[in-house]
Amino acid sequence: MKVVVNVAWPYANGAIHLGHLAGSLLPADIFSRYNRVIGNEVLMVGGSDQHGTPITVSAEKAGMTPEQYADKFHEINKKAIEDMGIEYTLYNKTHCPTHFEVVQRLFNDLRDKGYVYTKETDQYYCPHCARFLPDRYVEGVCPNCGAEKTRSDQCDACGMTFEPGDLLRPYCTLCNGTPEIRKTEHFFLKLSAFREPLLKYLEGKEGWRANVKAFTRNWLEDGLHDRAITRDMSWGVPIPVEGWDDKVIYVWFEAVIGYLSASVEYSRMIGKPDYWEAFWKDPEARHYYFIGKDNIPFHSIIWPAILMGEGGLDLPYDIPANEYLMIGGGKLSKSRSRGGAIDIPSVLSRYDADAIRFYLSINMPDSHDTEFTWEDLDTKINNDLVATLGNYYHRCLSFTKKNFGAIPAGETDPETVAEIERTVAEYRDLMGACELKRGIKLVMDLARYGNRFFDSMKPWALIKEDREACGAAMNTALRIAKALSIMMWPFMPRSSERVWQYLGYQGTPEDAGLDEALRPVVAGQELGEPVPVYKKVEVQKEEPKMEEKQEKPKETQQQAPAGPFADFRRMDIRVGTVVEVADHPDAEKLYVLKISLGEAEPRQIVTNLKTVYPREQMEGRRLLVISNLKPAKFRGVKSDGMLMALDDEDLGGHAIKLLKPSADVPDGTRIDCGLECSSSRIEVKHCEKVDIRVGKMTDGKVLGENVPEECPDTAAFVYDGDIRVPMGDGKGCFITVDDNDFIDGARVR
Ligand code: MF3
Ligand code: ZN
Repeated sequence: MKVVVNVAWPYANGAIHLGHLAGSLLPADIFSRYNRVIGNEVLMVGGSDQHGTPITVSAEKAGMTPEQYADKFHEINKKAIEDMGIEYTLYNKTHCPTHFEVVQRLFNDLRDKGYVYTKETDQYYCPHCARFLPDRYVEGVCPNCGAEKTRSDQCDACGMTFEPGDLLRPYCTLCNGTPEIRKTEHFFLKLSAFREPLLKYLEGKEGWRANVKAFTRNWLEDGLHDRAITRDMSWGVPIPVEGWDDKVIYVWFEAVIGYLSASVEYSRMIGKPDYWEAFWKDPEARHYYFIGKDNIPFHSIIWPAILMGEGGLDLPYDIPANEYLMIGGGKLSKSRSRGGAIDIPSVLSRYDADAIRFYLSINMPDSHDTEFTWEDLDTKINNDLVATLGNYYHRCLSFTKKNFGAIPAGETDPETVAEIERTVAEYRDLMGACELKRGIKLVMDLARYGNRFFDSMKPWALIKEDREACGAAMNTALRIAKALSIMMWPFMPRSSERVWQYLGYQGTPEDAGLDEALRPVVAGQELGEPVPVYKKVEVQKEEPKMEEKQEKPKETQQQAPAGPFADFRRMDIRVGTVVEVADHPDAEKLYVLKISLGEAEPRQIVTNLKTVYPREQMEGRRLLVISNLKPAKFRGVKSDGMLMALDDEDLGGHAIKLLKPSADVPDGTRIDCGLECSSSRIEVKHCEKVDIRVGKMTDGKVLGENVPEECPDTAAFVYDGDIRVPMGDGKGCFITVDDNDFIDGARVR
């Protein structure tokens, strides 16, 4: 089968970092290698996205031309990618003649077919700078989620895309002045013509990830608007129409065409100019797109529409978009990171590529955001990679080498054969479905099985009693090691190849293929001299100092907490009093409350506790509020905060109880948990990650019956007459409920 692995094009406006790796580059490489090891023909394409306003802005600041700037980072990133062991068929760049040619051809084809047309439109114009302002030269407040410093084309926080005029309180990023809206002429892509075909296309994609399906369906159901595909600037792909020299093709329209143009460019490079056609015109070929979630609509709607308009080219088969790798509560991103970027070259100066690949695979943000901390990285390298997998490889290889020199003969333990077969079958299912994190966890289970098998055989004793039986046991152990090295190869190619050679094989696991994992090892095969392939690292407790951008405004410089209780510490919990209770105009079950938090104005908070607390119990009630959530809307009514309640329904109870302060402290009193907490705005999902439970104090211990014993990043409230946060001294006040009638371990939400 032919498989095209399309990888999101990182902007060439900075060094790529762990966020790019975890979001798209690494999963693409793992999936590509998996396909190679099962014998599929793979074309893996992508490259540097070199156009667009972020690059002109950065180049201007660096005193370079956009081309110099974009080429500099193209080279840096190309090398970083190779150093990480990521193997593209071609890592191209968009400022390249073949790309221009392919983009212009598609532009003209779509124009001939009437899918591209001109229209006069509104555009931001800065009277002070006397110029039209493309997307990123304008920022403001997202009309959908309220995020500040949002770009005028798309909101990073909620993914919404905008047209000029949508953004609230816009300002020009060049002079901070207020832009106005003026008329200008642009080319438009007639997306509206593709609504029906796209809906049909989506119907066949039931297996897509939920986030991709939901996002795409919402877009389509909101009605598909034609979109401008040209911009007022000079850096980019020229418009192939006379008289349009002062504008270029919009970066997003041309960047997605890069997948096709890189395939064409590669074909020309190898002297077979038609080579790409076998991958793009074969209806059986599968096209996968590895992207971050902020890129979904461009790959699930705009790119398929361009392909449909052009005709005869394969549409995306799957778009396994990843969520974000977070650091200190923010998306790891170089354009607006809070903690600073973690670029690949500096990470590689301290860690092996395979150790990084291991960690990002096992902590991959495939279905939800995952948190990155240096401490977690170090711990997982030491406890899982070194102590489990590395230890397994080394103990069986070195023991056998020392005592037998070559692979000993003997019948493989049948239970182990069954275990390997089961693992390989499940591995195929998971990897084929792009479930890569579950794939590596499965292989780690086999490594744990191997360690248990080794321990149970006690080869160090057995060798003295029964050399032949010990040989059979080691034959079995090496068979596990062989299966591990083949299945781990897509995740950690270099170290797996070394193990492969220690096992006495020529070539690589890729040459042997996945089926080889099911076959026995060859008795008599000379073993190499093994050296441990993974090294322990020193666990860093502290976040290392990361580069800070000087021009960043004060409030965003505050670092969100990291390390233990990181998510808990992100919540700013305050005491409040209900000063007004109103019914929600459009929702029967909701109250709209006004709550005094000691601020100038009471907070408006929407709650669904109307069915639990009648109005008279609500009025004047003292409660605890998570005060630093990003505001949200419930059926059109703004809600700025969340009430804390405990809920034991899922434990068989039925009580939902609002928590309250134990003492008569002023509104706005902050719950002191003895840790430094952040008060910068957070998202609901951070709170959802925090597992706060209540339990009665037993023997001075925090844990109630249903409180999980080991819960990193978990805060438990103790019940001890009062409920209090365990790790603090509770200065000021504690948290309590009205009565003792709740089940231990009830969740606070
Ligand atoms: N450079 C863009 C980003 O990183 C787009 C990448 S995907 C592309 O968000 F296909 F559109 F280039
Ligand atoms: Zn938004």
